[in-house]
Amino acid sequence: MTAVVLAAGLGTRMKSATPKVLHKVAGRPMINHVLATLDEIGADHTVVVVGDGMGALAEAVRPHATAVQRERLGTAHAVLAARAYIEAHPADDLLVLYGDTPLITAGTLRAMLAARRAEPRPGVVVLGFEPAEPGPYGRLILDDAGRLDAIVEAKDATPDQLAVGLCNSGVMVIDGAGALDWLSRIGNANAKGEFYLTDIIAVARAEGAATAVVNGDADEVLGVNSRIELAEAEAIAQRRLRARAMANGATMTDPATVHLSWDTDLGRDVVIGPNVVFGPGVRVADNVEIRAFCHIEGASIASNTVIGPFARLRPGADLGAGVHVGNFVEIKAATLGEGTKVNHLSYVGDSDVGEGVNIGAGTITCNYDGHVKSKTVIGAGAFIGSNTALVAPVTVGAGAIVGAGSAISKDVAAGALAVTRAEQKEVAGWADRFNARRRKEKRDRNKEG
Ligand code: UD1
Ligand code: MG
Repeated sequence: MTAVVLAAGLGTRMKSATPKVLHKVAGRPMINHVLATLDEIGADHTVVVVGDGMGALAEAVRPHATAVQRERLGTAHAVLAARAYIEAHPADDLLVLYGDTPLITAGTLRAMLAARRAEPRPGVVVLGFEPAEPGPYGRLILDDAGRLDAIVEAKDATPDQLAVGLCNSGVMVIDGAGALDWLSRIGNANAKGEFYLTDIIAVARAEGAATAVVNGDADEVLGVNSRIELAEAEAIAQRRLRARAMANGATMTDPATVHLSWDTDLGRDVVIGPNVVFGPGVRVADNVEIRAFCHIEGASIASNTVIGPFARLRPGADLGAGVHVGNFVEIKAATLGEGTKVNHLSYVGDSDVGEGVNIGAGTITCNYDGHVKSKTVIGAGAFIGSNTALVAPVTVGAGAIVGAGSAISKDVAAGALAVTRAEQKEVAGWADRFNARRRKEKRDRNKEG
């Protein structure tokens, strides 16, 4: 099978400087969703048709091949822009998909390929669907025997044809042997003056080939043309991801408020509270509790840890088993050893923290001097008192204690105590004398007033 993914459209309705298919759904560009689905069905030859000057897009789809469609003359013209690639990779099936239809599933594509193999061995299989509002979609026109006769674009349709509810999703499997010949016979005598891929049905029928429709789910073939449709696609993707996570053994107290990424990897008996956001690249092992209002991306969380509420784990946070990260704690590019606790109001960045360390409330690793980032190392079993500033690069040895309120800028030896705050003074009776004097002054002033 050779697959062609059309993505040369400008996506004007997105009103964006970014090519449409690079807009993200569940944290991954739409086009990469489509390519991942193609990988899943084992498509070994895939070419993406891009427009002129879409270098960023060609970069994003690598190592997949790209073909450039210089003029945007329609969907058939776009497939033909990949002619050289298609000729170089002859296949039984030519699969055509759109880069702006990210939710298509491997199961549906497999059903289409199976339909090509079934009698009457159709030359073209189209994925149809019945949207709530057929509006601008091409209509699938069936003959009396229920066979697909033609696809008519909404702009070219008669009122009778517009009344048809069965629409073209855009996904097609074409007989690889006939495809290029059929495509080159398509003209542009229509309302938009474009070369419509949809006309391949009429061409194939005229050649005596059979055609068939596979019915798809409207959610799956949602085409994203605007930011509103992008949000609809996101909502559908989120519902799917949550369902998969729960099916795999995660509990969500309020699923609708949990946002996942395409690659969020949750273990069994992970319990997620309301309003938790997972950015890309998160791995969570078994028996982890993630309390409400956490934001997590690029982090790895080992088993039996407790996160939040209100914690932020940024890329490179690597939490060992049994770690506790509490409220208003931010962790970035830091390893926390088994059983370490950072429970309140702290920032731990560019750090290597050993096992069984206790980091007190309000501890800050000062990792940046305005020019470069430096590392903080804390040995196993160390105790960092509250409101400590660790000025990196700095190392606190294993089992050391840092007194609360210290600014540590020199290494602390293992087993030592380091404390930098000024010594405490005590003046006996001072507060009593002060309060008595101030009370008297206030009374005297009130009498005068
Ligand atoms: C197309 C179908 C319509 C179908 C609808 C489903 C045709 C003629 N019409 O209409 O039947 O119901 O999709 O969403 O095929 N593209 C190019 N180069 C071009 C033109 C388009 O690469 O010259 C790409 C676009 O980037 C997009 C896809 O092809 O990914 C579809 O193009 P679009 O203009 O959105 O087609 P529709 O009018 O939506
Ligand atoms: Mg479209």
